[in-house]
Amino acid sequence: MTKSLSRVATATAIAAVLACAPAVRAQTDKPWLDPSLDAGVRAGLAVKAMTEDEKLTLVFGYFSTDAPWKKFTRPEGSLPDAAGFVPGIARLGIPAQSQTDAGVGVATQRSAHPRERTALPSGIATAATWSPERAFDGGAMIGNEARLSGFNVMLAGGVNLLREPRNGRNFEYAGEDPWLAGVVVGNEVRGIQSNHVISTMKHYAFNDQSTSQSELDSQIGDADARMSDLLAFQFVNEIGHPGSVMCSYNIVHGRHSCENAWLLDEVLKTDWGYKGYVMSDWGATHSTVESANAGLDQDSGYPFDDKPYFGAPLKQAIAAGKVPQSRLDDMARRILTSMFAVGLFENPLKGDQSASIDYGKNEAIAQADAEEAIVLLKNDGLLPLAKTAKTLAVIGAHADVGVLSGGGSSQVYPHGGSAAPNEGPDNFPGPMVWFPSSPLKGIARRSSATVTFASGKDIHAAADLAARSDIVIVFASQWTAEGMDVPYLNLPNGQDALIAAVAKANPKTVVVLETGGPVVMPWLNDVGAVVEAWFPGSNGGEAIARVLTGEVNPSGHLPATFPASLDQLPRPVLDGDNHGPRGKLYTVNYGIEGAAVGYKWFDKKGLKPLFPFGYGLSYTRFEAGGLTAQPSGKALSASFTVKNAGDRDGKAVAQVYVSPASDAGWEAPKRLGGWVKLDLRPGESRAATVAVDPRLLAVYDAVSKTWRIKAGDYQVMLANSAADIVQTQTVHLDAQTLDVTGK
Ligand code: GLC
Repeated sequence: MTKSLSRVATATAIAAVLACAPAVRAQTDKPWLDPSLDAGVRAGLAVKAMTEDEKLTLVFGYFSTDAPWKKFTRPEGSLPDAAGFVPGIARLGIPAQSQTDAGVGVATQRSAHPRERTALPSGIATAATWSPERAFDGGAMIGNEARLSGFNVMLAGGVNLLREPRNGRNFEYAGEDPWLAGVVVGNEVRGIQSNHVISTMKHYAFNDQSTSQSELDSQIGDADARMSDLLAFQFVNEIGHPGSVMCSYNIVHGRHSCENAWLLDEVLKTDWGYKGYVMSDWGATHSTVESANAGLDQDSGYPFDDKPYFGAPLKQAIAAGKVPQSRLDDMARRILTSMFAVGLFENPLKGDQSASIDYGKNEAIAQADAEEAIVLLKNDGLLPLAKTAKTLAVIGAHADVGVLSGGGSSQVYPHGGSAAPNEGPDNFPGPMVWFPSSPLKGIARRSSATVTFASGKDIHAAADLAARSDIVIVFASQWTAEGMDVPYLNLPNGQDALIAAVAKANPKTVVVLETGGPVVMPWLNDVGAVVEAWFPGSNGGEAIARVLTGEVNPSGHLPATFPASLDQLPRPVLDGDNHGPRGKLYTVNYGIEGAAVGYKWFDKKGLKPLFPFGYGLSYTRFEAGGLTAQPSGKALSASFTVKNAGDRDGKAVAQVYVSPASDAGWEAPKRLGGWVKLDLRPGESRAATVAVDPRLLAVYDAVSKTWRIKAGDYQVMLANSAADIVQTQTVHLDAQTLDVTGK
């Protein structure tokens, strides 16, 4: 019904415009260029003027990097060593689509001359800030660098839930909770698009591990899907309005995502009313007729696919009546609707303007993000570093020269090249890139102590240095990357042993982790402090130094549970096999946990993690209280106050969880209902109110396609983390039935 109405509305609007066309046409023979018209109307007008071949031009994208091994040269007009390119249509004034990766900044495909641009901290780091403002600012910054680099489409917006802590791409995403991930990535997308650059949400959907990803069939029930991964995408779509969606490599219930009518046509376009376009991941298209008819709108990154599926094959399929002409028209309309809506026509690219990028300003934005992302996990008083310390040992992870970044298509390259070159694999997803922002130099500039570095390669030398130092700061890194999962959650390359040896030599040891996601810490009881710095971006070393020396009070909170061991996971053994026989299919049963992802699984199973979701310490002390909860609209809101009871500024993340007092058919005992991050001076109290989205109080019913809140009492919990509830109130809610969009 919704679809037919919107078509009628659009057709009526087009007729109205054409009826008064003489006046408009007098202005131009291209009425679609009138910016006063609605984007959908403009797209309809343009499609009516297009030839079949022009429509086919729009729906077929090329890799924007030479691929000699495939005898492929990037298209005329495309930018070198970039992600993708779709030619424009000069006759109609339609600009080319110049596509860049991705979530932390303007990436470059592996190249001898990479673009050197600003890198945000990793996506999971920005999620650890619990700050929509940092997410927006970061998106706005990288979107600006993309535009000034000559790109008008940014393939950012990764929001796959962290179901699998070993997933090599967790660093690109935003953790395990649909609401936190949806708000953070939705604001990043909003930031990117504020530059008139189309952003993407990806990888739609359930591409939650890399092992055998193209042969892996993700199994999950409709309701569980809608209350977990799809809910995160739904929130991103509502908050960020991404111009495009990237369907993923994996299979979902037997159909590859890019030819999966349930995902593309039913959920995204019909149920959620999505008006933008679906592009494939690079090499994720597997058919012409099935993918076109299932809702794919743009076949990306040729020659990644084994053959072109759109273009000539699509033209033949339409001529043969296998794909309706209306489907091609809809593809073109969707692409143009997003291009009009995001402002690509009125804000044409002006080629390479990267000389005008204000890197100082942009690095400060990245640093502010990193500083709020750092999570203080343990502190026996060692932090901030004592100014009385006379000798500091800094050990490991190239802390003398830089900080680590994640690998793969999202790789941003720093000015001047990697601080520790020639590391990591020679081919994709390498190289391993270290950003030249030295934690050691940052610490030394802020300390009167003698600071000595040891690489950590020689454990004995490191332990000797530790033994003769007042305080030890040992850095440990875990490189994660696209296309590969980590086999376990331990730190690699013997770093657990290094930390144990250093801590044994000197218990005044601080551990700084630079990881892609959760890791286990067998040495935790032997060290005095631990911070998780993630992949901290262009100025990450400065951010780490400012936190360790106390210039910045850490305010990060975990966006994902840190398990105590793999045995606690729904699937202790990873499914799939990257070395298995070609074409063999695998299944991953996400139905085991269903929507109970992360802390919800731990709650449901009564498991104690190493560190819980939402956990993070501060150099000051916060007191949250005064909780009241009341029905609000179709859901509820919670009000409370937070006080900074300590002696220094700090940012608190007050979390609100919700739970039915009696069985309401939820997937787990509680859900994150909302949060607020408050910057408080010593002694300052602030009142806050959090409104909970009704879908977070409901169960999705797949038959009626409604969200249902069961009448009854609900507990509202004010908390410092998923495992630290400060205060609980009970509120009665009447039964509610919401439509598929939560209204
Ligand atoms: C990659 C990634 C995707 C990226 C695209 C273009 O394989 O899966 O995230 O945007 O191809 O590089």
